[in-house]
Amino acid sequence: MGVLALLRVLVCCCVLVSVVNAEDPYRYYTWTVTYGTASPIGAPQQVILINGQFPGPRLDVVTNDNIILNLINKLDEPFLLTWNGIKQRKNSWQDGVLGTNCPIPPNSNYTYKFQTKDQIGTFFYFPSTQMHRAAGGYGAINVYQRPRIPIPYPVPTGDFTLLIGDWFKTGHKVLRQSLDSGKLLPSPDAVLINGQTRSTFSGDPGKTYMFKISNVGLSTSINFRIQGHKMKLVEVEGSHTVQNYYDSLDIHVGQSAAFLVTLDQPSKDYYIVASTRFTRRVLTATAVLHYSNSRTPVSGPLPAAPPNQPHWSMQQARTLRWNLTANAARPNPQGSFHYGKIIPSRTIVLANSAPLINGKQRYAVNQVSYVNADTPLKLADYFNIPGVFSVNALQSLPSGGPASVGTSIITAALHEFLEIIFQNNEKEIQSWHLDGYDFWVVGYGKGQWNRDQRSKYNLVDTLTRHTAQVYPNSWTAILVSLDNQGMWNVRSAQWARQYLGQQFYLKVWTPVKSLANEYDMPSNALLCGKAKGRHP
Ligand SMILES: *[C@@H]1O[C@H](CO)[C@@H](O)[C@H](O)[C@H]1NC(C)=O
Ligand SMILES: *[C@@H]1O[C@H](CO)[C@@H](O)[C@H](O)[C@H]1NC(C)=O
Repeated sequence: MGVLALLRVLVCCCVLVSVVNAEDPYRYYTWTVTYGTASPIGAPQQVILINGQFPGPRLDVVTNDNIILNLINKLDEPFLLTWNGIKQRKNSWQDGVLGTNCPIPPNSNYTYKFQTKDQIGTFFYFPSTQMHRAAGGYGAINVYQRPRIPIPYPVPTGDFTLLIGDWFKTGHKVLRQSLDSGKLLPSPDAVLINGQTRSTFSGDPGKTYMFKISNVGLSTSINFRIQGHKMKLVEVEGSHTVQNYYDSLDIHVGQSAAFLVTLDQPSKDYYIVASTRFTRRVLTATAVLHYSNSRTPVSGPLPAAPPNQPHWSMQQARTLRWNLTANAARPNPQGSFHYGKIIPSRTIVLANSAPLINGKQRYAVNQVSYVNADTPLKLADYFNIPGVFSVNALQSLPSGGPASVGTSIITAALHEFLEIIFQNNEKEIQSWHLDGYDFWVVGYGKGQWNRDQRSKYNLVDTLTRHTAQVYPNSWTAILVSLDNQGMWNVRSAQWARQYLGQQFYLKVWTPVKSLANEYDMPSNALLCGKAKGRHP
């Protein structure tokens, strides 16, 4: 064997070791996506089912599990799932958004292969294209700790997973046509908990249960509370938090949180309440916390919502902090506990807006309203296909002038440390999500951000998360360590805003191509648009 061949074998071995960690278990799934009929708010309507279920099956996995999930699309439209908060380390190939993956054509399939690397916590998946999310197709992802990995709270007796979201009686196709024609998303018709309006969660008196909650809705922040019970916050999107007690918590679109609740009240049934925040009309969903020996049905007034003021919510958001002494499965890059001491390599200010472009409602970031290309940006980048995306259209500071449409990316070097300011000059609350990462939310404030605001940042113990709210006419500042190479979607988690352009991609890269930084294109990658027929 020549030296070169030997080298190649060695390289191959390394690749195998890094992509597929033989020590970590494999979990295989086959999921079939179909339409079905459900009546979540009375009248029957079309929903998207996964293996016949609405919401879809729960993915209960363990840190570092390898997930091999064959998704079969039986809809009449292309389909994709994305894994909200699963970091896809070195592996944006599996992120399941239109900038990284070709959608799965009808009557076709794609096998996702990814690892829940170094994560513990509450996450969810959802359809990322075509407004499918309005019809369901979402489900929970619970990543549990490996044996012998300590968690900073006693293991609860059980857990309850609650997918909470606003719901529309209008089907996803009609909603999409309406958005395409330039109209606004209508107000929601209801709030659902696990796809219905009458769930019951049953537990034994004296025992402690974990409530794992995600806001899977399209547009609306919710407030979550339980009659007569305090909720001890223990985890937010994979971060172990300082364990404060809350009467209620605001959870914005795309966010997740986990509480411990002890059934320490007189044995009866209690209301679980999720109600919309900052909406003209407040919609309320209830479920029941049932003590297993209770014979008394729910009664009494619902626990009151906190003041309907962004200011109240902002104050509460500042109380969410990181437990610095808890170890976690999170990757702990050098200095991550000292994030406040790292000088950012640059500051990017991203201002959302809601311009009319050619007379139609669009949403934009720094005056660029994103349009999807027919070729995923990740594939265009890999095959060096020109003319798919633009690297200069999107400025890193808000620019004046008219808004325009574009397929824009911002590039950054691997291991850069960024300060990003989300500036919201609109009256509507925002929810921003970054794929591939957790980031430190260091500050929230009113009005226009400026450099002086840095003195008020929490540079000691703010938590990391993947989705941050930005209050009306306010800003939110985050710090992020770009340690994950790939093409990552930065988007509004509010789905109509995302659909009509409030998103872009962040390309994190190094000039040197190395499998230590990023996995190679999967051999089963679907190829579409200008990448069709190409070979790696
Ligand atoms: C589709 O499913 C088959 C197995 O039924 C699998 O061999 C194939 O790799 C899948 N296609 C893709 C693109 O993943
Ligand atoms: C942080 O985690 C530690 C260790 O796991 C735990 O004992 C402690 O109670 C937690 N502290 C707070 C304030 O939540």
